Amino acid sequence: MSNTLIKNIGILAGILENTSAPIRGSALKSLNEIKNAFVFIKDDRIADYGCMRELPSDYAADIHLDASGRIVLPSWCDSHTHIVYASSREQEFVDRINGLSYQEIAQRGGGILNSATKLRNASEEELLEGALKRLDEILAMGTGAVEIKSGYGLDVKSELKMLRVIRKLDKKHPIKVRSTFLGAHALPSEFKNDKKGYINLIINEMLPEIHNEKLADFVDIFIEKGYFDIDDAAQIMEASKAYGLIPKVHVNQFNAFGGIRAMVDQNALSVDHLEEMNEEDFEALRGKKTIAGLLPNCSYFLGIPYAPARKMIDQNIAIALATDFNPGSTPSGNMNQVVSAACIKMRIAPEEAINAGTINGAYAMNLDHSFGSITIGKKANLSITKPMDSIAYLPYYFGINPIDKVLISGSVVKSH
Ligand code: NIG
Ligand code: FE
Repeated sequence: MSNTLIKNIGILAGILENTSAPIRGSALKSLNEIKNAFVFIKDDRIADYGCMRELPSDYAADIHLDASGRIVLPSWCDSHTHIVYASSREQEFVDRINGLSYQEIAQRGGGILNSATKLRNASEEELLEGALKRLDEILAMGTGAVEIKSGYGLDVKSELKMLRVIRKLDKKHPIKVRSTFLGAHALPSEFKNDKKGYINLIINEMLPEIHNEKLADFVDIFIEKGYFDIDDAAQIMEASKAYGLIPKVHVNQFNAFGGIRAMVDQNALSVDHLEEMNEEDFEALRGKKTIAGLLPNCSYFLGIPYAPARKMIDQNIAIALATDFNPGSTPSGNMNQVVSAACIKMRIAPEEAINAGTINGAYAMNLDHSFGSITIGKKANLSITKPMDSIAYLPYYFGINPIDKVLISGSVVKSH
């Protein structure tokens, strides 16, 4: 363990003295900053920060980093991904270019079921190796905490295999990993005409074993036409509650039919996607604890509407931005690109987007106690950007990796 001093920081951004609730409304616009700043790190934690002229002379550091002309900000907290998978799906990408929709591809047995066939045949080691590479990739782009879902197994053995891989990733990789059980992602072909049977399998066989092995923190379900409905969700969420699993759900991606209200009533930590929203959905979320998890790169890649983030912020709905990194709808784990897309396509300010991708992302994973902001005592998971003079430059100069150095638990783990 060592002490690190980052000095001469052009802009230190994302400072929060204390954090007690997701940032929402007009407060989302302030990304508290100090110019010409320092951060002092003791072991793995942020020990102090402030203006260079107030840097105490007795701060002894083993490692000195100079961040002149650069921004230092908290690592991205990516609260929605599916990065454990066996195989890419670029043929579906080409099929969409040729005119098929995401739903049409799924009806032909592609989509999630395509990934399930491949994953069932992959070993735990293969899945681990593939996911570790993707974690390395997102680490290099400044992500320091990530949520990963199951949902490509869709049988007892394969869902448990995925979740075990997710737990191993947390142990083997410097990025903090949260685990979500998404058994109700799609109906597997062997239950094609027996949804009730599959839900019983989830409730009676998957959930108890997941609980025994402590394999998940959260539970998810894809509420959508052709997938699962509100009654299915209520059953699975009720059963999951008995095992202490907190709901984080996929809802309103293609159709709005009351799923948001139902999941807010289930005390969901987040409701994600929200590309299709009606007035009742806004009403259900306004002022509530449940966070709207928005995924602009999914909209970009599938060519579907962007979630109405501007209206959500203006209506006091807490939002988080995440990648949705998965082989079907969003084959990208680049949070910098997500922040850019949110500014460009959702018309939210750079400061709002950065807060939504850091501290509010941490909330959407119940990791706000240790991640997502420059706060004394929090983990020193920080990014040092390439040279840039303003916050707006970060999403403006899009398409490159703007991150130069990544610190995880106080150590430089990536330097470009
Ligand atoms: O969040 N919409 C449901 N699930 C994923 C996509 C899964 C897939 O296509 O493999 C999503 O977009
Ligand atoms: Fe997703």
